[in-house]
Amino acid sequence: MINDEMRQKLIGSAAEVRKWAYAPYSKYAVGAALLTASGRIYDGVNIENAAYTDGICAERVAIFKAVSEGEREFIAIAVVTSNGGSPCGSCRQVMSEFGLKTIVIIADEHGKVIDETSVEGLLPGAFLPGDLPR
Ligand code: THU
Repeated sequence: MINDEMRQKLIGSAAEVRKWAYAPYSKYAVGAALLTASGRIYDGVNIENAAYTDGICAERVAIFKAVSEGEREFIAIAVVTSNGGSPCGSCRQVMSEFGLKTIVIIADEHGKVIDETSVEGLLPGAFLPGDLPR
């Protein structure tokens, strides 16, 4: 669980960074803010590319920034878009690598919470590290 102050902080951070989204093709700016067990918040935006498939989502940018700084335990991630769109399948899979209990807060550009769930809720039956044969 996270308290309301932290929920608002994460939504605010995700909303704030949307201005840095590089989305000249879709024009769909996405901001994410990830709270780790260390108490730090890592933000991310979607970054598109002229070679369309080479773009990356905001959630994965935030997660990869955190992991590349040694973080492994995530508490919650907020995702903010104009209309409260839901994280894509690839982002759900990347989230699942670091824990099914991570809270996922989905909000729109007005800060309205559209959904609050967990990675497990978004990706039941995820393929996990333990599924790989030793
Ligand atoms: N996008 C994200 O950043 N996160 C998601 O979970 C869904 C989609 C981005 C990718 C692309 O830059 C734009 O939104 C339109 O799909």
